[in-house]
Amino acid sequence: MSRGNAKPDLVIRNAWIVDGTGAPRRKGGVAVADDRIVAAGELGEMTGATEIDAGGRVLAPGFIDAHTHDDRALLVDPLMTCKVSQGVTTVVAGNCGVSLAPLTTHARPPAPLDLVCADPAGFYPDFGAYLDALDADPPATNALAQVGHATLRLGAMDRLDRAATGAEVRAMRARLEAALEAGASGLSTGLFYPPAAAAPTEEVIEIAKGLHAFGARHSTHMRDESDHVTESLEETFRIGREAAVPVIISHHKCSGRANHGRSVETLALIDKARAEQPIGLDCYPYVAGSTTLSRDMLSDASEVLVTWSEPKPEAAGRKLSELAREMGVSEAEAVGALMPAGGIFFMMDEADVRRILAYPHTMIGSDGLPHDAHPHPRLWGTFARVLGHYARDVGLFSLEEAVRKMTSLTAAQFGLGGRGVIREGAYADLVLFDPDQIRDAATFERPKVPAIGVALVVVNGRVVWRDGAHTGARPGRALRLQDLERPAAAAS
Ligand code: ZN
Ligand code: CU
Repeated sequence: MSRGNAKPDLVIRNAWIVDGTGAPRRKGGVAVADDRIVAAGELGEMTGATEIDAGGRVLAPGFIDAHTHDDRALLVDPLMTCKVSQGVTTVVAGNCGVSLAPLTTHARPPAPLDLVCADPAGFYPDFGAYLDALDADPPATNALAQVGHATLRLGAMDRLDRAATGAEVRAMRARLEAALEAGASGLSTGLFYPPAAAAPTEEVIEIAKGLHAFGARHSTHMRDESDHVTESLEETFRIGREAAVPVIISHHKCSGRANHGRSVETLALIDKARAEQPIGLDCYPYVAGSTTLSRDMLSDASEVLVTWSEPKPEAAGRKLSELAREMGVSEAEAVGALMPAGGIFFMMDEADVRRILAYPHTMIGSDGLPHDAHPHPRLWGTFARVLGHYARDVGLFSLEEAVRKMTSLTAAQFGLGGRGVIREGAYADLVLFDPDQIRDAATFERPKVPAIGVALVVVNGRVVWRDGAHTGARPGRALRLQDLERPAAAAS
């Protein structure tokens, strides 16, 4: 059905509307025609082809997952149940320097690229072809996709343990610009990881300069989130200033016992820098991280769980300390026997996690790893955990503020015009949930469990989740840079 005076396709009434802006909830309903909200609030006599009584539950804009590694999941598991079941309607992919395009490779890619895709045939030489593949067989959620710096390096360099030459930097920038032309939303880096650790700041700046003219953004898994976290923040700010682009600090944290409590310092630095240049950040609501299993991570972690292992698949879900004891070797040696593998690392402080989550400019991002055999529970639990555990049970912030951090704030950071808010004319991305019931059910022991309390999820006007089950609908869109709003002028 088209918009205008025609009868709405869908009317949801008798809800508490939490509109995403942080404003207090108000009673009312929403009418949807085609992919848009045509009325919000008092609906009067308006009726729809489909009528849903919200029963006094909360109706919010669909959640935007600010940080994902869903690049391949969107193609191979397009129902996206792990996200839709929590109320997520849009995901931002291509993070931490890792993307499926643009790259031609004939060998298994190095970690951490293999977290997203270990098969060389799964990569796309052309970014537009990747987005076209999403169009051809669409997922249930909308998606934005960034270009990964490690992906660019792998395609342009014969070895990754050195700085790129001038010619290689020019080649990477040209590929980035072609990808932006095709619709990539920005550039991500993972300077912490081996494929990019040898890249000097200047290399990133020269490549990132390509973003400015396109109005694209930069996100970063910083070089160091541990002892040198403040130096890494300074590096990140410098890249943003010199490339004149907005930067997003991915999954902000202070890792390792010696750095617990330092979020007081890091947030003060971010706050000060924000006065001079556009900076955003995201966070997941757990004290454990998850990535490639490597010896480098052991010193910061009080405990490690194995999430997958190629030579020893039976290790998935088990503690590294136990496995090492059984093998009669040190934990470092056990890592060697398990690799290639992934792990969950308990390495943050609860007080830091709360302080970062509560910081007004922090968005919610899951950083879930959808291909892990025994994934970190953040994949299935992040959004419900923020709403249920941190907002309702702990009282870290109001429900309205929690919703803002996963909707309008994120939409503004990524330029998602017409999303992340409930108002007339906006896209009909919606989630209906019970504020007393909502909670994450995924745990470190049983991580693949849908959240409790999400009654209805709508993407672009079509119902994808209802009463605990996926409808099978896949109305998601691959959003192009050209569909986004340009950032307010960055420093130059
Ligand atoms: Zn990362
Ligand atoms: Cu990540």
